[in-house]
Amino acid sequence: MRYGHFDDEAREYVITTPNTPYPWINYLGSEQFFSLLSHQAGGYSFYRDAKMRRLTRYRYNNIPSDAGGRYFYINDGGDVWTPSWMPVKAELDHFECRHGLGYSRITGERRGLRVESLFFVPMGENAEVQKVTLTNTSDAAKSFTLFSFVEFCLWNAQDDQTNYQRNLSIGEVEVEPFNGTSSAIYHKTEYRERRDHYAVYAVNAEAAGFDTDRDTFVGAYNSLGEAAVPFAGRSADSVASGWYPIGSHSLEITLEPGASTSYTFVLGYIENPVEEKWAPADEAAGIKALQVINKTRAHELLARFATTEQTDAAFEALAAYWTELLSGYSVTSGDEKLDRMVNVWNQYQCMVTFNMSRSASYFETGIGRGMGFRDSNQDLLGFVHLVPERARERILDIAATQFPDGSAYHQYQPLTKRGNDDIGSGFNDDPLWLILGVAAYIKETGDFGILDEPVPFDNDESTAASLFEHLSRSFTFTVDNLGPHGLPLIGRADWNDCLNLSCFSTEPGESFQTTENQAGGVAESVFIATMFVHIGPEYAELAERRGQTDVAASARAAIEKVRAATLEHGWDGEWFLRAYDFYGNKIGTDEKPEGKIWIEPQGFAVMAGIGTEVPADGGRSVAVRALDSVKAMLGTDHGLMLQHPAYTSYQVELGEVSTYPPGYKENGGIFCHNNPWVIIAETIVGRGAQAFDYYKRITPAYREDISDVHKLEPYVYAQMIAGKEAVRHGEAKNSWLTGTAAWCFVAVSQHLLGVRTGYDALIVDPCIGPEVPQFTVRRRARGATYEITVHNTGGKGARLTVDGTPIEGNAIPYAPAGSTVRVEVEV
Ligand code: GLC
Ligand code: GLC
Repeated sequence: MRYGHFDDEAREYVITTPNTPYPWINYLGSEQFFSLLSHQAGGYSFYRDAKMRRLTRYRYNNIPSDAGGRYFYINDGGDVWTPSWMPVKAELDHFECRHGLGYSRITGERRGLRVESLFFVPMGENAEVQKVTLTNTSDAAKSFTLFSFVEFCLWNAQDDQTNYQRNLSIGEVEVEPFNGTSSAIYHKTEYRERRDHYAVYAVNAEAAGFDTDRDTFVGAYNSLGEAAVPFAGRSADSVASGWYPIGSHSLEITLEPGASTSYTFVLGYIENPVEEKWAPADEAAGIKALQVINKTRAHELLARFATTEQTDAAFEALAAYWTELLSGYSVTSGDEKLDRMVNVWNQYQCMVTFNMSRSASYFETGIGRGMGFRDSNQDLLGFVHLVPERARERILDIAATQFPDGSAYHQYQPLTKRGNDDIGSGFNDDPLWLILGVAAYIKETGDFGILDEPVPFDNDESTAASLFEHLSRSFTFTVDNLGPHGLPLIGRADWNDCLNLSCFSTEPGESFQTTENQAGGVAESVFIATMFVHIGPEYAELAERRGQTDVAASARAAIEKVRAATLEHGWDGEWFLRAYDFYGNKIGTDEKPEGKIWIEPQGFAVMAGIGTEVPADGGRSVAVRALDSVKAMLGTDHGLMLQHPAYTSYQVELGEVSTYPPGYKENGGIFCHNNPWVIIAETIVGRGAQAFDYYKRITPAYREDISDVHKLEPYVYAQMIAGKEAVRHGEAKNSWLTGTAAWCFVAVSQHLLGVRTGYDALIVDPCIGPEVPQFTVRRRARGATYEITVHNTGGKGARLTVDGTPIEGNAIPYAPAGSTVRVEVEV
C-alpha cells in the first residue's frame, strides 16, 4: 500500500493523505539554518546546532504525535481549520504535501478555499521562508482570517525541556509597531544578558493583530487543535512576559471568486556584534538604553523578502542550486526506481546526513549527539562530490578532535567544534574512518595539498601538525593496539556501538558505551582488522605519493600481518568471526547457539580483498564462502540481518547488543548501514545480480508499495528494518540520519553502476547483473564531464572505448577541465 507517489520530473515525493503511518518529514536548509518539517507542518528550526540554538519548540514523545510546528489556521466564517490538517484535523476536501529538495509545499482545501504553504530556507539566509498562497475556488466572494503560529524555544533545547523554575520567568518579546509594510515579532529571551542573537517572525503585510503569549493564544487546558484565538476569530494582541512566548499574526483577507493572494512569512535568526546589540537610546521615541534590540539586521532580512517576486526568485535560486549539485552524477537506466534513487533521493539524503550527522530527526532529538567522528567521516563518502569545499572544512574540523595518540573524541558539538567530554573516546574504529574520508576527498578533488594543512589535536592550536600526520597517528593507533591474536583491540566498541565487550554493566540506565570498562580487557575486533586491511592501503598510497616510501613499506607490512592474523584467527570455517571477548572467547562462531554469524566482517573482509583468491582446485574462495553464508543465514526479503540467531537473553559480556528484543536494532535487525558492504563485496566477487538484488531489498523506492509495512518515508533510507525474529518484521525505524545513505550511494554509484574516482583516473567497473541491459552515467570529475554508456550482459570486467579508441584496463586518466569524454563500455 502507498500513501503517495514520486513525481520524478519535479523531484518531489507527493503525499496524498495526512494519514501516513508515521510523520513523513523533510529537511529545509543546507548551510547554517535548518528546519525539520513533516507532511503535516510539524517540526522545528535551529541555527547550526539543534541543541544550543533551537528557534522553535517541538515535543518529542507527545500525544497526539507530531503536534508542534508552524501552523496556519483559517477562520472562514466560524469554520476553523488548518490546511496542513494538523492540528485542528478538520476534514479537508483536498490534501497534498510535496516534499522536494530543500522545500515542502503543503496544500489543503476546504469549502472553496485553497491554501498552499511553501516552506523553504533560501540559499545564503538564516531563515525559514513560508509563502502562503490563498485561492478562492468557490463562486462567491470570501472573507476570512488567517492566523500564523510558531512557538519559540528558549534556545538551549535541553534546558528548555527541563529548567522550568527559571525558564518560565525569562521569556521576552518585542512587537514591532505595524507600519503598513511588515509586522514583526521578536523573540529575545536571554538577550538582555549573554546572548547576542534573537529570532524574528514576520509577515510582509500589515497584520490585523498579533499574539506572543501562548496561554492567551491557545487558552488554558486547550490543545493546539482548539486554540482559542483562531476559534474566537480575532488576535488578542497579547505580549508575552515569561511563560511561553510564541509568534502569531492575523490577516483579514477578502477574495473574489477565483482570486488568489500570497504572503511571505519569515522566521529568521539574527546575530548582532556585542557592541551593536542594542538600539541607541532615544528619549523622544521612548527607547531606553540597553532595552530595545538592534533590529537593523532583521530589517535587512525582511527587506529581502518584502515582495512575492523576491520570494519566488529565492525559491528559483534554490532549485537551480540543486540542479547544479545533482548534475555531478546521474544515470539513465530504464529502471525508474533506480534512476530516482541515484539521481535525486539518495544524494539528497547524503546532503542531509552530512549536515545533521546523527543529531536531529524524528528519532534523534537534537540534544543527544552532536557530530559523530565515525559517522561524519562515513557521511563524507556520499558527499565529497556534492560540495567538496565543505567536505574539506569538515575533514579539518573532525581531525581537530583527534588526540595525539591517534584516538579521537567519539562526537563533537557543531557550534563549538569541540570534542564532547560526556562520551569521550575509546571507540577503536574511529581513527581509521578519518583515513577513508580523506582518501575519498582527495580522489574526488585531487587536492593532495589538504594533507599539509596544519590541524591541532584536541583543538589545542599549540599541538598543530599536518593532516597527514593525523592520518599517520590514525594508522599507528591500530598498530599500537593489537591484542593477543594480532587483531585490533576493540575498546568501548567498534562500528557496532552495541558490542561492548569490556563494560559488564549490571546497573539499569547506565550507558553501555561510556560506563567504566573493566580493566585488563583484551577483547579484539575482527571487524576493525578488516577495516585496517581495507583502509590501511590508502594511507600507504598517500605516504608513497609524498615520497615517504619507507613509511609506505612498513605500513604495508603491518597491513599484511593483520591480513594474515584475520585469516588465521578470524576465520570460523564458513565465515569470519566477529570478535574475541574479554576472556578470549570467540564471538560469531558456529560453536555457539546464538550470534553465530555477524554481517560486518563478512562484507568488509571481502572489500579488503581478504580471502578473495580462488583456490587452486577452482573451488569457492574464502570470500565467496563468507558471502554464501551471509545469504543463507542473514538473508530476508527485507534485507540482510546484522547477526543470527539473535540473542534471546542479556549477555553481560556482550553488552548492549543483547539488550534489544530479538530482531531489532543491532540484535538481529536489518541494520541497513552494513548491507551495502555486502553489496559491494558481491560485486567484488563478480556477482552483480546478487548485489543488485540485495540493493533493492533495502532501497526505499523499491519498498514504496509496502509502505504500510515499512511505515517510514519511501524516499529515504532508514537505519533499521526489523529482522526475521522481530514481532514486526519489515517495519523500519530511524529514517534519514544513517550511514546507509552514504554507503548505499557508494555501493550503487561506484560498484553496481561502477563509476568511481581514483587518485589519477576515473575508474569504470560496473557489475549489476543482467537486469539493467543498458545504462548511461553522466559523471563530472575534476571539471570534465564523462558520458559513459554501458552495454551490459551482467558480468564483470568492462572493456572500454574512450572517445572512439579502445583502451586497456578500466581507468580513464582525468581529462582537462571543461572537456567532455564519451565512453562506451561492454561488460
Ligand atoms: C548508529 C551510530 C553509528 C554506529 C551504528 C551501529 O548508526 O550512529 O555510529 O556505527 O549505529 O551501532
Ligand atoms: C547507536 C546504536 C544504538 C545505541 C547507540 C548508543 O546509535 O544504533 O543502538 O544505543 O549507538 O550510542
